[in-house]
Amino acid sequence: MKHLLVAGARPNFMKVAPIMEAFRVREQKQVLLVHTGQHYDEEMSDNFFADLQIPKPNLNLEVGSGSHSQQTARVMTAFEAVCNEHRPDWVIVVGDVNSTLACALAAKKLGIHVAHVEAGLRSRDRSMPEEINRLCTDAISDLLFTTDEMASENLRREGVSEERICFVGNTMIDTLLRNIDKALSMPLPTELEVREYAVLTLHRPSNVDSKPKLTALFEALIDISRSIPIVFPVHPRTRHNLQQFGIEDTCGDSRIKLIGPLSYLPFIGLTARSLLVLTDSGGVQEETTVLGIPCITMRPNTERPITCTMGTNILVGSEPERIRAAVLAALNAPPRKNKMPDKWDGNAAMRIVDVLLSEPGALNEHTQKNILAKKRNGDAASQIVEGVLNEHSVSSR
Ligand code: UD1
Repeated sequence: MKHLLVAGARPNFMKVAPIMEAFRVREQKQVLLVHTGQHYDEEMSDNFFADLQIPKPNLNLEVGSGSHSQQTARVMTAFEAVCNEHRPDWVIVVGDVNSTLACALAAKKLGIHVAHVEAGLRSRDRSMPEEINRLCTDAISDLLFTTDEMASENLRREGVSEERICFVGNTMIDTLLRNIDKALSMPLPTELEVREYAVLTLHRPSNVDSKPKLTALFEALIDISRSIPIVFPVHPRTRHNLQQFGIEDTCGDSRIKLIGPLSYLPFIGLTARSLLVLTDSGGVQEETTVLGIPCITMRPNTERPITCTMGTNILVGSEPERIRAAVLAALNAPPRKNKMPDKWDGNAAMRIVDVLLSEPGALNEHTQKNILAKKRNGDAASQIVEGVLNEHSVSSR
């Protein structure tokens, strides 16, 4: 049984880290980690591997940047060759970036089983490249691992059969819980002279690629920085546009501190000690939910509504007035005790790996029959596999 796990861009790395670790714990040695090279520099990639102690990828496809079609096509071509050479039983893709879709497509066309981690998230906004990647990846994947029941329900509504859906929890939160102590021991960026601050992240094309929109956003943010200093680790796409549109210079006199992209531990350390977060990222909405930090999301929608219903997240779009009002409200509100979404408990990756190791080919025929019988009885997948593995001593734990 051979598994091939794919990572391509920054938000993938924290999701593959606990899966690699779970494979190691289960003593599954036939696992290859493939880095597509969608993100390639130290700040966007290498530092995350170091921080999260992810083993060096077995293969790097080095596709680099390009238009969506160029990037997707390059990943597909290179990954098809990898699949032909290594003939994995399963390809595991995570998240919603171009590499996710490209590898799922290439594998599926070769008849290889595909598992999608973080399936079923829907913003219902098809102008987002990530939404297209999510819809297409889910449509062709054999196993769909979801982070919450809303995501499972989205899939059911799209007609996905129950056997393909598996609610396991959130691998990004596995990584957060595993690393939070270390992150809190990291020093704050040296440029930071204050102890009370907001964190800003901004990189969605819909916010940063239009000059009028980015200019209006920064006018509001500069105004907000009079109430609270803002630390802004700048994504390369955003840095490029801030320079191009002449906005970067306007931040000079404000209390917005522009710094380079941070790797995982310093970013989580910075966020966990902030008063609030302003963002358009997906993962940050989940991390702030668990950290209990107010999160103001500068998007009209979210594919992660559970962070609003159970967590600290509110959606404000990109209207300057709404952003300002939300910041003031968050600064004046008493801290709120948020509930933790079900199965965001640090064990999602272990559940995923246990399910994968129970799929046809991993265990003998008798064990398979056992699993299917128990599945029919409606047991949770993790309990089934736990029991079966114990019964047959397949792995020594
Ligand atoms: C991608 C993902 C997005 C994710 C984001 C996190 C897609 C469609 N989008 O968007 O979902 O939230 O990553 O960062 O897959 N660049 C560098 N160094 C790098 C990588 C990129 O400087 O290591 C620059 C390049 O100029 C590139 C630009 O950033 O053109 C954008 O990178 P790209 O991977 O195309 O998309 P992101 O905006 O990062």
